[in-house]
Amino acid sequence: MKIDISTLTLEEKLRLLTGKDAWRTYDANGKISSVFVSDGPHGLRKVADNGETVKATAMPNLSTVANGWSREAAYLDGRTIADECIKNDVDVILAPGVNIKRTPLCGRNFEYLSEDPFLAGTLAKEYIAGVQSKGVGTSLKHFCANNCEEDRLSKTSEIDERTLKEIYLTAFEIALSSKPWTVMCAYNLINGVYASENKYLLKDILRDEFGFDGVVVSDWGAVQSGFRRMRAGLDLEMPFRDHSYDDLKKAYDKGLIDDEMINTSVEHILKLVEKAKNAKKKVEFTDEERHENAVKIAEEGIVLLKNDDGILPLNPGTLNGGAGLSGNVAVERLEQITTAGGVLIIGDKSVNPPLGGGGSAYVETAFKQRDLKSLLKDKMSELQVEYCNRSVMSPYASKETYVRAKKASAVIVCVGNDRSVETEGRDRASIKLHADEEKAINRLATINENVIVVVYAGSAIDVSGWIDSAKAVVWAGFSGEGVNEALADILTGKVCPSGKLAETLPTSLEDTYCGSSLGSPFVERYDDGIFVGYRYYDAADKEVAFPFGFGLSYAEFEYSDLAIEKKGELDYAVSFNVKNVSGVDGKEVSQVYVKDVFATVARPEKELKGFSKDLVKSGETVRVTVPLNARSFAYYNTAMKKWMVENGEFEILVCSSSREVRLKASIFIDLPEETQQSVYYLD
Ligand code: GLC
Repeated sequence: MKIDISTLTLEEKLRLLTGKDAWRTYDANGKISSVFVSDGPHGLRKVADNGETVKATAMPNLSTVANGWSREAAYLDGRTIADECIKNDVDVILAPGVNIKRTPLCGRNFEYLSEDPFLAGTLAKEYIAGVQSKGVGTSLKHFCANNCEEDRLSKTSEIDERTLKEIYLTAFEIALSSKPWTVMCAYNLINGVYASENKYLLKDILRDEFGFDGVVVSDWGAVQSGFRRMRAGLDLEMPFRDHSYDDLKKAYDKGLIDDEMINTSVEHILKLVEKAKNAKKKVEFTDEERHENAVKIAEEGIVLLKNDDGILPLNPGTLNGGAGLSGNVAVERLEQITTAGGVLIIGDKSVNPPLGGGGSAYVETAFKQRDLKSLLKDKMSELQVEYCNRSVMSPYASKETYVRAKKASAVIVCVGNDRSVETEGRDRASIKLHADEEKAINRLATINENVIVVVYAGSAIDVSGWIDSAKAVVWAGFSGEGVNEALADILTGKVCPSGKLAETLPTSLEDTYCGSSLGSPFVERYDDGIFVGYRYYDAADKEVAFPFGFGLSYAEFEYSDLAIEKKGELDYAVSFNVKNVSGVDGKEVSQVYVKDVFATVARPEKELKGFSKDLVKSGETVRVTVPLNARSFAYYNTAMKKWMVENGEFEILVCSSSREVRLKASIFIDLPEETQQSVYYLD
């Protein structure tokens, strides 16, 4: 039964406000149950008391989950991870991270979802619901504006109020509707005040405006001052530190913190203890099923970026569950691939694929990876698949490699990053592939016209140096222990690719807003404002290598019959048909963007306000409906301190990517005069 706070001494209360050790809350010598927390967003990373990391299923990184645009897959991801928390007595998983991808240089972008707050928040909401459906808590992080790694403990994110509201808080606001048990504050400062002691953010916004009623926990070591964090409403300092209790006791004796503050935070923590103790926990998957879930979620998030001459899938015969493509395309292609010279796979990432980025989110898995070559052989026994163990990545690759590459009917080159390149604690200095990898792709293209590039990476890569040499490009992402199985299914055609980019691939680092500089070690000025990601590239009218929301399929979809039905003052239902006009069953991610045609403030060209991922079988049509509401049209007006919808024309854009408008129509919003600007002058 719930601990009565009146039975706790002041010392017990103050100790409860700081961790017992690295991963547990204080237990008052057994008087209170302790809550055990562990990382991370891509699967359990529990550091046992003996210092060893417990093995767990390495799920796809959240960047891959986001490329999947699938609410169901995000929910399944959460449920799967919760299983191993239950098996290992972990009460709260320290995930998901929803920080916005403002620059591709941020070392932790692999661990976050998107450059767009609506997509990031919507998928995080499903992930949280999935985890918590199993009686395990979550920690929505890092609150907020932690958008780079260098100097993260001392750097201030300088952001104007409207940008904060519309871009850097919105993903948290949406995800909070799944009621995460905890929210983790970030290390950095926001407008000169540490997140851990930022009353405006922790109380005025998080508690009062967003209605959060769980525990606010610090990032590990993020608390600078015991009393300032209490006054700002940060409940729990993690991890345990020797001076934490003394700091609080001294502050109490000086009257800097009072009983009301202490009791408020203690009550939040006691509620967390009760939730953890009373939750109905049930493991639902076997080890094999958890692995299968990792493969399934990876398949949703792998993105086909280029596929000239329809060179993929390698075996059209496996499309449509083996029914294959109609006509003789399949036979022709299969003969070409299997008899002429088979497929040569190059690059040791095909044998040891990077499963995820580095740092607290890295999961140690017991699963033994199978190399891409043997997996392709399994699925296409007739295929001659060779692996080149002499990496052609070195400029001095053996002549034999090139001879084999010339003979092959297709060459698959596996390139990209690993956790030494994309990691917590450090930002990237470049977004290019390693020079040797770029060279290898370009060299191979001079001797074989069918170069298929597989990219393993957690964040944007500058493809400009080699994209023209590749006939096909598959973005494998950082997709966990199931990545090669998922890739083999997609490369052979057993699965039709359906992923779409949740982060723009810019033409070059110089073409991004931040370029190669991330401000001074102390201040990062967010003077791009709300124009982040595709919002920036649209406003600057810049070309991009591959746009936000882009991804190819083996199928082909046509959009038609757009209808917009008014359901309430600012509630609309946007409906349209998606028809699969190909011979291949596939899933399509349709996206709904809103454009305020004439606004009295600067607004993005378009903003994502809805999306749907639907299976559309060959020849069939699906009617898709996406809801819009007041916030779909609103911007934050800092003069009026409120979300504002201005009367006038709004364009509703139904897109297959942020740069491919398939259908569009206008609506005219005509709210009562008193809701408009004039109300400001009435006050
Ligand atoms: C790290 C990370 C945070 C993680 C925590 C515990 O520094 O910033 O995401 O959950 O500490 O490892």
